[in-house]
Amino acid sequence: MTVENGYVQAEIDPNLNLVAEINKLKKEKNAVIMAHYYQTGDIQDIADVIGDSLALAQKAVNIDADIILLAGVHFMGETVKVLNMDKKVLVPDLNAGCSLADSCKAADLKKFIDEHPDHTVVSYVNTTAEVKALTDVVVTSSNALKVVNSFPADQKIIFGPDRNLGSYINAQTGRNMLLWNGACHVHERFSLEQILALKKANPGAEIICHPECKRPIVLASDFVGSTAALLSHINNSSADTFIVATEEGILHQMKLSFPDKNFIPAPPETETGMCGCNNCEYMKLNTLQKLYLTLKYELPEITLDPDLAAKARKPIDAMLELSK
Ligand code: 13P
Ligand code: SF4
Repeated sequence: MTVENGYVQAEIDPNLNLVAEINKLKKEKNAVIMAHYYQTGDIQDIADVIGDSLALAQKAVNIDADIILLAGVHFMGETVKVLNMDKKVLVPDLNAGCSLADSCKAADLKKFIDEHPDHTVVSYVNTTAEVKALTDVVVTSSNALKVVNSFPADQKIIFGPDRNLGSYINAQTGRNMLLWNGACHVHERFSLEQILALKKANPGAEIICHPECKRPIVLASDFVGSTAALLSHINNSSADTFIVATEEGILHQMKLSFPDKNFIPAPPETETGMCGCNNCEYMKLNTLQKLYLTLKYELPEITLDPDLAAKARKPIDAMLELSK
């Protein structure tokens, strides 16, 4: 066994029942698997905890286990580690990054903050621990509106790194927060033209989107919300067909929870060299094989400097408090 290129490399017997083996390892090692809605269906099905970024952070506070395996992307593993410095936090592949988190380097944000000293810093959870350490309060797409509304109307705010979520919150609140110029490459690719063509072909369908989508998609949508909010909206809606503008993994949970409703993944703009799907290639680096090897060898592990973790925890705790 070696850990090369960010994940465990070892032979797996092709006849092995991976689901049974993973369940066995979970019991033996007192381990818990947490998965984001953008994971593949087989990973969502084997997870003990499944949720959007806010639910994963909230549930990570009270996990009773020695090992937590986070099936998602790196910033989610880091958030779980910040909240569980006494536990082993594993991720199946250290390369599972996030284009949004990558768009905001701590040194650049620090410079921006220094240029705007009288501003409160609100950061999306899709950021590194270093960025969180520079932040006053963290938000997710589930609670950004509530958290921003908790500040006085004249409070000057830096919001980063997602310019689309930031401009959505600005529009909803009438504020003029200073926005970091970052975006998610998956959510920026949805094609308004193709979404409207789908709506024309399915007149009763509702368009539902994640707030990381660009403004024209948000404006064309019947509902805007985090992955968890999209699921609860479907539960409350009388529509039977939904055009879904977010990462495709969520469709697994939608189909499981609402087998009588129809879900159409919103198509992205097709560019040469890019897939015609709306998968986040970082989320999809995780596989059942990697989960099995990660649990077996307890690698790769997320490690964090305790001082950095303590600084990053403050704005996460502030968020959790404001989300109660
Ligand atoms: P959620 O807050 O809905 O979990 O979104 C996380 C994410 O990475 C969206 O791209
Ligand atoms: Fe990051 Fe976008 Fe992937 Fe979410 S879908 S993890 S924001 S790259």
